[in-house]
Amino acid sequence: MAKSIDVSDLNIYYGDFLAVEGVNMTIRAKAVTAFIGPSGCGKSTFLRTLNRMHEVIPGARVEGKVVVSGQSLYDSSVDPVAVRRQIGMVFQRPNPFPTMSIYDNVIAGSKLNSKRLKKADADAIVEKSLRGANLWTEVKDRLSKPGMGLSGGQQQRLCIARAIAVEPDVLLMDEPCSALDPISTAAIEDLIQELKSEYTIVIVTHNMQQAARVSDDTGFFNLKATGEPGHLVEFNPTTKMFTNPDEESTEAYISGRFG
Ligand SMILES: Nc1ncnc2c1ncn2[C@@H]1O[C@H](COP(=O)(O)OP(=O)(O)O)[C@@H](O)[C@H]1O
Ligand SMILES: [Mg+2]
Repeated sequence: MAKSIDVSDLNIYYGDFLAVEGVNMTIRAKAVTAFIGPSGCGKSTFLRTLNRMHEVIPGARVEGKVVVSGQSLYDSSVDPVAVRRQIGMVFQRPNPFPTMSIYDNVIAGSKLNSKRLKKADADAIVEKSLRGANLWTEVKDRLSKPGMGLSGGQQQRLCIARAIAVEPDVLLMDEPCSALDPISTAAIEDLIQELKSEYTIVIVTHNMQQAARVSDDTGFFNLKATGEPGHLVEFNPTTKMFTNPDEESTEAYISGRFG
Protein backbone atom coordinates (compact mmCIF):
# COMPACT_ATOMS: atom_id res chain seq x y z
CA MET A 1 0.00 0.00 0.00
CA ALA A 2 1.43 3.35 -0.99
CA LYS A 3 2.18 5.61 1.96
CA SER A 4 2.92 9.27 2.51
CA ILE A 5 6.05 10.47 4.30
CA ASP A 6 6.25 13.46 6.64
CA VAL A 7 9.70 14.78 7.40
CA SER A 8 10.16 17.33 10.17
CA ASP A 9 13.25 19.25 11.24
CA LEU A 10 15.59 16.57 9.97
CA ASN A 11 19.32 17.09 10.54
CA ILE A 12 21.59 14.46 9.04
CA TYR A 13 25.12 13.79 10.30
CA TYR A 14 28.16 11.77 9.33
CA GLY A 15 29.87 11.74 12.73
CA ASP A 16 30.32 15.40 13.64
CA PHE A 17 29.74 16.58 10.10
CA LEU A 18 26.27 18.05 9.58
CA ALA A 19 25.62 17.13 5.95
CA VAL A 20 21.98 18.22 5.63
CA GLU A 21 20.13 20.62 7.89
CA GLY A 22 16.53 21.31 8.82
CA VAL A 23 14.50 19.45 6.20
CA ASN A 24 10.74 19.70 6.36
CA MET A 25 8.57 18.17 3.65
CA THR A 26 5.56 16.00 2.94
CA ILE A 27 5.95 13.36 0.26
CA ARG A 28 2.57 12.37 -1.13
CA ALA A 29 1.39 8.79 -1.59
CA LYS A 30 0.89 7.61 -5.17
CA ALA A 31 2.88 10.48 -6.57
CA VAL A 32 6.39 10.93 -7.86
CA THR A 33 8.60 13.31 -5.89
CA ALA A 34 11.91 14.39 -7.42
CA PHE A 35 14.96 15.85 -5.67
CA ILE A 36 17.25 18.08 -7.67
CA GLY A 37 20.23 20.22 -6.78
CA PRO A 38 23.98 20.50 -7.35
CA SER A 39 26.32 17.64 -6.56
CA GLY A 40 27.17 17.30 -2.88
CA CYS A 41 24.10 19.11 -1.53
CA GLY A 42 22.84 15.97 0.20
CA LYS A 43 20.19 14.50 -2.09
CA SER A 44 21.46 10.93 -1.72
CA THR A 45 22.10 11.40 1.98
CA PHE A 46 18.56 12.63 2.54
CA LEU A 47 17.07 9.86 0.39
CA ARG A 48 18.85 7.22 2.47
CA THR A 49 17.32 8.56 5.69
CA LEU A 50 13.87 7.72 4.31
CA ASN A 51 14.49 3.99 4.73
CA ARG A 52 17.12 4.06 7.47
CA MET A 53 19.95 3.13 5.14
CA HIS A 54 21.90 6.22 6.17
CA GLU A 55 22.79 4.76 9.54
CA VAL A 56 24.53 1.67 8.11
CA ILE A 57 27.54 3.99 7.78
CA PRO A 58 29.44 4.04 11.11
CA GLY A 59 28.79 7.27 13.00
CA ALA A 60 25.96 8.31 10.71
CA ARG A 61 22.81 9.52 12.47
CA VAL A 62 19.83 11.83 12.26
CA GLU A 63 17.92 14.25 14.45
CA GLY A 64 14.28 15.02 13.78
CA LYS A 65 11.43 12.95 12.49
CA VAL A 66 10.45 10.83 9.51
CA VAL A 67 6.86 9.61 9.76
CA VAL A 68 5.54 7.10 7.24
CA SER A 69 1.74 6.98 7.38
CA GLY A 70 1.69 7.60 11.10
CA GLN A 71 4.67 5.43 12.00
CA SER A 72 7.75 7.26 13.21
CA LEU A 73 10.69 5.52 11.49
CA TYR A 74 13.28 6.43 14.10
CA ASP A 75 11.33 5.34 17.18
CA SER A 76 13.38 2.98 19.31
CA SER A 77 10.76 0.24 18.84
CA VAL A 78 11.14 0.26 15.06
CA ASP A 79 13.28 -2.43 13.40
CA PRO A 80 15.42 -0.81 10.68
CA VAL A 81 15.58 -4.07 8.71
CA ALA A 82 11.79 -4.14 8.49
CA VAL A 83 11.82 -0.50 7.38
CA ARG A 84 14.25 -1.25 4.55
CA ARG A 85 11.99 -4.09 3.44
CA GLN A 86 8.95 -1.81 3.28
CA ILE A 87 10.79 1.04 1.62
CA GLY A 88 12.72 -0.26 -1.34
CA MET A 89 15.72 1.33 -3.00
CA VAL A 90 17.03 1.37 -6.55
CA PHE A 91 20.57 2.63 -7.07
CA GLN A 92 22.49 4.59 -9.65
CA ARG A 93 24.30 1.57 -11.06
CA PRO A 94 22.12 -1.47 -11.68
CA ASN A 95 23.22 -4.02 -9.08
CA PRO A 96 21.68 -7.42 -9.74
CA PHE A 97 23.02 -10.11 -7.41
CA PRO A 98 25.95 -11.24 -9.54
CA THR A 99 25.77 -14.99 -9.05
CA MET A 100 21.98 -15.25 -9.37
CA SER A 101 19.67 -15.98 -12.26
CA ILE A 102 17.04 -13.49 -13.38
CA TYR A 103 14.43 -15.56 -11.52
CA ASP A 104 16.43 -15.76 -8.30
CA ASN A 105 17.19 -12.04 -8.37
CA VAL A 106 13.49 -11.24 -8.40
CA ILE A 107 12.52 -13.73 -5.71
CA ALA A 108 15.48 -13.19 -3.36
CA GLY A 109 13.68 -10.77 -1.03
CA SER A 110 10.48 -12.82 -0.86
CA LYS A 111 12.53 -15.89 0.06
CA LEU A 112 14.09 -14.00 2.95
CA ASN A 113 10.66 -12.89 4.11
CA SER A 114 9.05 -16.31 3.96
CA LYS A 115 11.19 -19.41 4.35
CA ARG A 116 8.58 -21.81 2.94
CA LEU A 117 7.60 -20.10 -0.25
CA LYS A 118 5.82 -22.56 -2.58
CA LYS A 119 7.17 -22.89 -6.12
CA ALA A 120 3.86 -21.85 -7.69
CA ASP A 121 3.67 -18.77 -5.47
CA ALA A 122 7.25 -17.86 -6.26
CA ASP A 123 6.57 -18.25 -9.99
CA ALA A 124 3.58 -15.94 -9.69
CA ILE A 125 5.57 -13.29 -7.81
CA VAL A 126 8.36 -13.43 -10.39
CA GLU A 127 5.97 -13.03 -13.31
CA LYS A 128 3.97 -10.26 -11.67
CA SER A 129 7.09 -8.31 -10.68
CA LEU A 130 8.75 -8.66 -14.08
CA ARG A 131 5.51 -7.61 -15.76
CA GLY A 132 5.32 -4.69 -13.33
CA ALA A 133 8.83 -3.67 -14.34
CA ASN A 134 8.03 -3.99 -18.07
CA LEU A 135 10.63 -6.71 -18.44
CA TRP A 136 8.60 -9.92 -18.63
CA THR A 137 8.32 -10.30 -22.39
CA GLU A 138 12.05 -9.72 -22.82
CA VAL A 139 13.16 -12.32 -20.27
CA LYS A 140 10.38 -14.88 -19.85
CA ASP A 141 12.24 -17.46 -21.96
CA ARG A 142 15.53 -17.07 -20.10
CA LEU A 143 14.61 -16.76 -16.44
CA SER A 144 17.32 -19.20 -15.38
CA LYS A 145 20.06 -17.19 -17.11
CA PRO A 146 22.30 -14.85 -15.07
CA GLY A 147 20.87 -11.42 -14.29
CA MET A 148 24.24 -9.96 -15.17
CA GLY A 149 23.77 -11.11 -18.77
CA LEU A 150 21.10 -8.48 -19.38
CA SER A 151 21.78 -5.04 -20.86
CA GLY A 152 22.21 -2.12 -18.47
CA GLY A 153 18.66 -0.91 -19.00
CA GLN A 154 17.27 -4.41 -18.51
CA GLN A 155 19.38 -4.86 -15.38
CA GLN A 156 17.93 -1.68 -13.95
CA ARG A 157 14.39 -2.91 -14.69
CA LEU A 158 15.39 -6.21 -13.06
CA CYS A 159 16.42 -4.26 -9.96
CA ILE A 160 13.06 -2.50 -10.00
CA ALA A 161 11.32 -5.89 -10.35
CA ARG A 162 13.36 -7.14 -7.38
CA ALA A 163 12.36 -4.07 -5.36
CA ILE A 164 8.61 -4.35 -6.12
CA ALA A 165 8.52 -8.14 -5.63
CA VAL A 166 8.28 -7.65 -1.86
CA GLU A 167 5.40 -5.17 -2.33
CA PRO A 168 7.01 -2.19 -0.64
CA ASP A 169 5.10 0.92 0.40
CA VAL A 170 7.62 3.29 -1.08
CA LEU A 171 10.23 3.08 -3.82
CA LEU A 172 13.33 5.25 -3.50
CA MET A 173 15.49 5.73 -6.60
CA ASP A 174 18.88 7.43 -6.58
CA GLU A 175 19.68 8.64 -10.11
CA PRO A 176 18.34 5.38 -11.57
CA CYS A 177 18.99 6.43 -15.17
CA SER A 178 22.39 8.05 -14.90
CA ALA A 179 24.20 4.94 -16.17
CA LEU A 180 21.66 4.25 -18.95
CA ASP A 181 21.32 5.17 -22.62
CA PRO A 182 18.41 7.43 -23.72
CA ILE A 183 16.16 4.55 -24.83
CA SER A 184 16.57 2.68 -21.55
CA THR A 185 16.07 5.97 -19.73
CA ALA A 186 12.77 6.50 -21.54
CA ALA A 187 11.72 2.94 -20.61
CA ILE A 188 12.45 3.60 -16.93
CA GLU A 189 10.63 6.96 -17.04
CA ASP A 190 7.54 5.27 -18.56
CA LEU A 191 7.76 2.61 -15.88
CA ILE A 192 7.91 5.23 -13.12
CA GLN A 193 4.69 6.75 -14.48
CA GLU A 194 2.98 3.36 -14.37
CA LEU A 195 4.27 2.44 -10.92
CA LYS A 196 3.02 5.59 -9.26
CA SER A 197 -0.57 4.32 -9.36
CA GLU A 198 0.53 1.79 -6.73
CA TYR A 199 3.60 3.20 -5.06
CA THR A 200 4.97 6.32 -3.50
CA ILE A 201 8.04 7.09 -5.57
CA VAL A 202 10.96 9.34 -4.67
CA ILE A 203 13.63 9.91 -7.29
CA VAL A 204 16.91 11.79 -7.14
CA THR A 205 17.97 13.07 -10.53
CA HIS A 206 20.69 15.38 -11.79
CA ASN A 207 18.64 15.76 -14.96
CA MET A 208 16.18 18.62 -14.60
CA GLN A 209 14.29 17.65 -17.73
CA GLN A 210 13.77 14.26 -16.20
CA ALA A 211 12.44 15.78 -12.98
CA ALA A 212 10.09 17.93 -15.06
CA ARG A 213 8.90 14.93 -17.09
CA VAL A 214 8.34 12.34 -14.38
CA SER A 215 7.53 14.09 -11.12
CA ASP A 216 4.49 15.64 -9.49
CA ASP A 217 6.42 17.45 -6.78
CA THR A 218 10.01 18.64 -6.74
CA GLY A 219 12.39 19.50 -3.93
CA PHE A 220 15.39 21.70 -4.70
CA PHE A 221 18.39 21.21 -2.40
CA ASN A 222 21.37 23.53 -2.28
CA LEU A 223 24.40 24.54 -0.22
CA LYS A 224 24.62 28.08 1.13
CA ALA A 225 28.39 27.87 0.67
CA THR A 226 31.02 25.15 0.43
CA GLY A 227 31.45 23.47 3.80
CA GLU A 228 27.96 24.51 4.88
CA PRO A 229 25.26 21.85 5.24
CA GLY A 230 22.88 21.17 2.41
CA HIS A 231 19.30 22.28 2.89
CA LEU A 232 15.95 22.15 1.16
CA VAL A 233 15.50 25.49 -0.59
CA GLU A 234 12.07 24.91 -2.05
CA PHE A 235 9.48 22.18 -2.32
CA ASN A 236 6.61 22.71 -4.73
CA PRO A 237 4.46 21.09 -7.40
CA THR A 238 6.79 20.39 -10.31
CA THR A 239 4.89 22.61 -12.75
CA LYS A 240 5.21 25.54 -10.39
CA MET A 241 8.84 24.81 -9.64
CA PHE A 242 9.76 24.88 -13.30
CA THR A 243 7.62 27.83 -14.34
CA ASN A 244 7.33 30.13 -11.38
CA PRO A 245 9.57 29.08 -8.46
CA ASP A 246 9.31 30.88 -5.14
CA GLU A 247 13.06 31.27 -4.64
CA GLU A 248 15.60 33.13 -6.72
CA SER A 249 18.22 30.40 -6.29
CA THR A 250 15.78 27.82 -7.66
CA GLU A 251 15.25 30.01 -10.70
CA ALA A 252 19.02 30.36 -11.12
CA TYR A 253 19.56 26.61 -10.85
CA ILE A 254 16.78 25.48 -13.19
CA SER A 255 17.78 28.02 -15.79
CA GLY A 256 21.30 26.57 -15.72
CA ARG A 257 23.13 29.48 -14.12
CA PHE A 258 24.98 27.16 -11.69
CA GLY A 259 25.31 23.49 -10.70
N1 LIG B 1 29.71 8.06 3.63
C1 LIG B 1 29.94 9.35 3.84
N2 LIG B 1 30.72 9.76 4.86
C2 LIG B 1 30.96 11.07 5.09
N3 LIG B 1 30.43 12.08 4.36
C3 LIG B 1 29.64 11.73 3.33
C4 LIG B 1 29.35 10.36 3.01
N4 LIG B 1 28.52 10.34 1.93
C5 LIG B 1 28.32 11.63 1.59
N5 LIG B 1 28.98 12.47 2.43
C6 LIG B 1 29.00 13.94 2.37
O1 LIG B 1 27.67 14.41 2.55
C7 LIG B 1 27.43 15.53 1.69
C8 LIG B 1 26.24 15.22 0.78
O2 LIG B 1 26.62 14.19 -0.13
P1 LIG B 1 25.56 13.45 -1.05
O3 LIG B 1 24.37 13.10 -0.24
O4 LIG B 1 26.26 12.34 -1.74
O5 LIG B 1 25.17 14.60 -2.11
P2 LIG B 1 24.41 14.49 -3.51
O6 LIG B 1 23.74 13.16 -3.58
O7 LIG B 1 23.46 15.64 -3.51
O8 LIG B 1 25.46 14.66 -4.56
C9 LIG B 1 28.72 15.77 0.94
O9 LIG B 1 29.45 16.75 1.64
C10 LIG B 1 29.44 14.45 1.02
O10 LIG B 1 30.83 14.60 0.93
MG1 LIG C 1 23.94 11.57 -4.95
